[in-house]
Amino acid sequence: MAEEAILGYLQHNQEISDSGRFAAEHGIDHDEIVNVVKSLNGFRYVDAQDIKRETWILTEEGKAYASAGSPEVHLFLAIPPGGIAKEELQKKLDPSVYKIGCAQAAKNKWVEMGKLVTRKVQHVDDKVKALLLQIEEGKVVGQDDIKALKARKLIAPQTWKGYSVKKGPNYAPKRKKVATDLTRDNLQRGDWKELEFKEYNFTAKGLPVESGHLHPLLKVRKQLKDIFCQMGFEEMPTNKFVESSFWNFDALFQPQQHPARDSHDTFFLEAPSTTKELPEDYVDRVKNVHESGGYGSRGYGYDWKREEANKNLLRTHTTAVSSRMLYALAQKPFVPKKYFSIDRVFRNEAVDRTHLAEFHQIEGLICDRGLTLGDLIGVLNDFFSRLGMSKLRFKPAYNPYTEPSMEIFSYHEGFGKWVEVGNSGMFRPEMLLPMGLPADVSVIAWGLSLERPTMILYGIDNIRDLFGPKVDIGLIKKNPICRLGI
Ligand code: PHE
Repeated sequence: MAEEAILGYLQHNQEISDSGRFAAEHGIDHDEIVNVVKSLNGFRYVDAQDIKRETWILTEEGKAYASAGSPEVHLFLAIPPGGIAKEELQKKLDPSVYKIGCAQAAKNKWVEMGKLVTRKVQHVDDKVKALLLQIEEGKVVGQDDIKALKARKLIAPQTWKGYSVKKGPNYAPKRKKVATDLTRDNLQRGDWKELEFKEYNFTAKGLPVESGHLHPLLKVRKQLKDIFCQMGFEEMPTNKFVESSFWNFDALFQPQQHPARDSHDTFFLEAPSTTKELPEDYVDRVKNVHESGGYGSRGYGYDWKREEANKNLLRTHTTAVSSRMLYALAQKPFVPKKYFSIDRVFRNEAVDRTHLAEFHQIEGLICDRGLTLGDLIGVLNDFFSRLGMSKLRFKPAYNPYTEPSMEIFSYHEGFGKWVEVGNSGMFRPEMLLPMGLPADVSVIAWGLSLERPTMILYGIDNIRDLFGPKVDIGLIKKNPICRLGI
């Protein structure tokens, strides 16, 4: 409709001098006219020139006065013929109406502001309201009035944009439909001879290529795998999300009363609720070490329960994988090993901006004769400096399965402070010796979350933006590749 109106009008007239007036005269929305003019101008049907006009629009306050009247009139009307005490008047009115009303009514010399407020004139007109209504309707208002309303912040300037429009070099009273495809029908009917074809646009951008995109966690994981492999580590199989309490806790010398083994912290399985098999003679050795120690340990001195060890759960750490691997290693003549894993773990935690009930752990361990805490510190320095964290500090910590244990802190240049980046330790003899590992073999190990470094690297401060249903797929598509340590 807008297109017909414009092209039709130009057939008999030189020019549309003002698209705003044209829109009003033809009862067409100006935005629609603007869109059509832009398109016709693009195809050179018309030649459009920008025009701009300064107009005034009402502010929120201006709109309120235009509908309800100005505060000075409200104030005036609230004064009875015999006058009123200031406090009384104040009580009758809204605080802002009272304040502005007093100032304006006094300025207009409508009222006498003594202890008693009285009317000085018989009758007042709401000129402000009338002016605002005129402006709202687009009528022209005198410069002095504009100035006063602007000073009271009742109106604000707005630039109106429109066009003046003339015939263009490709002008026609009706837009020609150009063909974009040569079809079988065109050929059979022979109408291709009359058809006008759309020109090729060789500079048009092609459709974006659809492709898969790696999630940031996968990108960071790949980099970490490369680092472990460069350091000579082998990957452990992490496909058991469901694990028995035995491998997740008991084998790690974690006592059965430990709070982590509560359903508040751990997801236990309802079905199947228990594991089918465990290596019986090893289970006996684990039971003994918990109950009465051995290997130079006093144990915990409690009644170890098999039912507790049988309970299935979603593994709470990948150290469950390490315990299986070390046990398997102990069943054969000893060879030193360097193992790593990066996979999912589960904890029954309240979800917040830094915690999810499922996340990923990075775990590394070295199993060899005669390893010391110095080896652990050395390996951690090597590993973390490859991630770009070369300033490390260690703090004594506690894990049921490691002694000594250390939390790892790294100095973050961007944050200007030390941040915790992992946990580590030397596995206890109470864990290693029942497995059957030779007495002079030690295991140094460490663990950290994959989410933490990923969030730091990608500048994400809410874990729910990284993982789970709230993740913005657009962000995943645009994420840069990951390079660590540069
Ligand atoms: N399993 C520990 C955790 O879940 C990490 C860790 C791994 C600590 C290996 C020491 C040794 O936080």
